[in-house]
Amino acid sequence: MYTRALLVLFVTVFLFMENVTGIYIPNLNETCLRCLCHVAGCDLAHSCTGGYCGPFYISRIYWVDAGKPTLVDDTPERKEAYEDCARDYDCSQHIVVGYMAKFGKDCNGDGVTDCFDYMMINHNGGWSCSAPLNSTIEGQRRLELFEQCRLQ
Ligand SMILES: *[C@@H]1O[C@H](CO)[C@@H](O)[C@H](O)[C@H]1NC(C)=O
Ligand SMILES: *[C@@H]1O[C@H](CO)[C@@H](O)[C@H](O)[C@H]1NC(C)=O
Repeated sequence: MYTRALLVLFVTVFLFMENVTGIYIPNLNETCLRCLCHVAGCDLAHSCTGGYCGPFYISRIYWVDAGKPTLVDDTPERKEAYEDCARDYDCSQHIVVGYMAKFGKDCNGDGVTDCFDYMMINHNGGWSCSAPLNSTIEGQRRLELFEQCRLQ
């Protein structure tokens, strides 16, 4: 009886926490994904340029680290699987979530892992995400874009 109640509790909590993409990452909700997209450029018509694909400008290595998400009924082994997922807005969100599932952490050391940290990870890469964004021009540009989307 007790075990069963516990199981129901776990399942309920899990379903409650699960976000649209099926994996729960703290504070990585729709709002945050929209912001990360805005900071990346979020051109929904963007195909692939210079090794970066889709609205989030995702590289192949990022996709691999994210666990190679694909469109429904596709397989990671197919030649264009990465490009096609990264170019699709829903699928590209799965890539970002997969990447943060692996690398998500409190990059700026403020005690919470939130959207700001995910932005830092997208800028600095997952392995050493703590470099302050204001130390480079490109980082400053991203900070400004992030501020814009927070105000929306
Ligand atoms: C997403 O999370 C942030 C902070 O964690 C919160 O302020 C915002 O309201 C959330 N948005 C949605 C749509 O749940
Ligand atoms: C850059 O950001 C860090 C914290 O993220 C802050 O301590 C520092 O003062 C900032 N530097 C400038 C030039 O704004």
